[in-house]
Amino acid sequence: MTTQADSRTRAAHVTGWGRYAPRQVLTNADLERMVDTSDEWIRTRTGIRERRVAAADETTASMGAVAGLRAIHTAGLEPDDIDLIVLATLTPDYWMPSTAALVKEAIGNTRASAFDVMAACSGFVYALATAQAYIGSGLSKHALVIGSELLTRFLDYTDRSTCILFGDGAGAIVLSASDEPGGALGIELTTDPQGAYMIWIPAGGSKAPPSASTIGRGEHFLRMEGRETYRFATKTMATTALESIRRSGLTADDVGLFIPHQANIRIVEAVAKGLNLPMDRIYVNLDRYGNTSAASVPIALAEAVNEGRVQIGDNVTLVAFGAGFTSGAVTIRWTADPTRGRTADDAVQPEDVHVRLPVDWDSVDPIPEALAELMAQPGSVDVPLDDVVPGEPEPVRQPIGR
Ligand code: UT7
Repeated sequence: MTTQADSRTRAAHVTGWGRYAPRQVLTNADLERMVDTSDEWIRTRTGIRERRVAAADETTASMGAVAGLRAIHTAGLEPDDIDLIVLATLTPDYWMPSTAALVKEAIGNTRASAFDVMAACSGFVYALATAQAYIGSGLSKHALVIGSELLTRFLDYTDRSTCILFGDGAGAIVLSASDEPGGALGIELTTDPQGAYMIWIPAGGSKAPPSASTIGRGEHFLRMEGRETYRFATKTMATTALESIRRSGLTADDVGLFIPHQANIRIVEAVAKGLNLPMDRIYVNLDRYGNTSAASVPIALAEAVNEGRVQIGDNVTLVAFGAGFTSGAVTIRWTADPTRGRTADDAVQPEDVHVRLPVDWDSVDPIPEALAELMAQPGSVDVPLDDVVPGEPEPVRQPIGR
């Protein structure tokens, strides 16, 4: 699908941005104690050095609410100015209600319509395109667009090909209607179902409802064909970005900063090559956060703007790819004062945000026990891997040390 802002519709400007990264850090050295991997392999094959892990009392909704409130603060708005909340995630708090509904309550908003978008790692760009369409058609004036993911609860910490890649976090923007030119310009969205089983979570849906055997087989964890996904990403990212730029009436030379999905530095470098761009026009923070799926682009956008990498009048292209296979790109003409976001982290603390729990809620411990233990006790620990993946594989008999 492609869209192009035309003169009859209202423009959707980015007026607010914010991000939230949980405090706990999981380093490559930590992972060396869990699976047969090395810091050197992870750094050279992916560029990742560390990622964040949500605390036991954090959820996709709570992280999304913090990032969302920070974006609202940056925009200089009150939560109730927001009339639309679109949240992209593949790790919702529950199958229903939507995580966006929980965020709406947590941020103290009473008037927005709220729903989730699921397009995996491309989800934030799809959500942004959705909000832009609402604004363009007059259905929304101030939309909060969030990407929030808690992937560490969906990872198999015995599978070294996936557990080293992903981390937790949230990012958000406020899109505001305006009669002035600028904001989100050309958008390109693609979906290729040939890749449907290249990254997926096999069980838990209507095809394979949860059961003791789906849990025993580890079918609730993310699975991925890394090489196929890599091939798709390198093939698609540059073309998707270029189509969005073309639909904006621009060329790649007109774009000041590219913000790609933060999956793998080798993929990012291939995109730079495909676009014939030096790496200093491409924003990278995957070394610190790993792949945070739908949260990666908005976290990177907020950090890039706060670091002064984006100025008023600049064109910025966001581009992502992910399960589905999906891809999406949007080119934005930046119109907001970039310094506005710098106080947002201090203004909104995670302790101030509460997602209401159901009455008599008695959940099991949400963090895999082995991961919790590892994070609580830096240094050598004997990790009982059977606690991470119930039923498989055989418990490790030897202490795992550095
Ligand atoms: O948001 C979308 C999410 N997905 C992605 O972005 C993933 C895209 N794919 C990738 O980033 C890369 O394919 C990976 C990082 C996942 C893997 O890198 P690769 O260079 O494609 O490695 P590979 O799968 O070809 O594996 C090469 C070797 C294998 O060993 P053998 O068969 O050559 O002996 C793997 O078993 O590396 C081994 N390997 C590891 N070794 C140490 C795989 N994972 C690890 C590991 N540590 N963590």
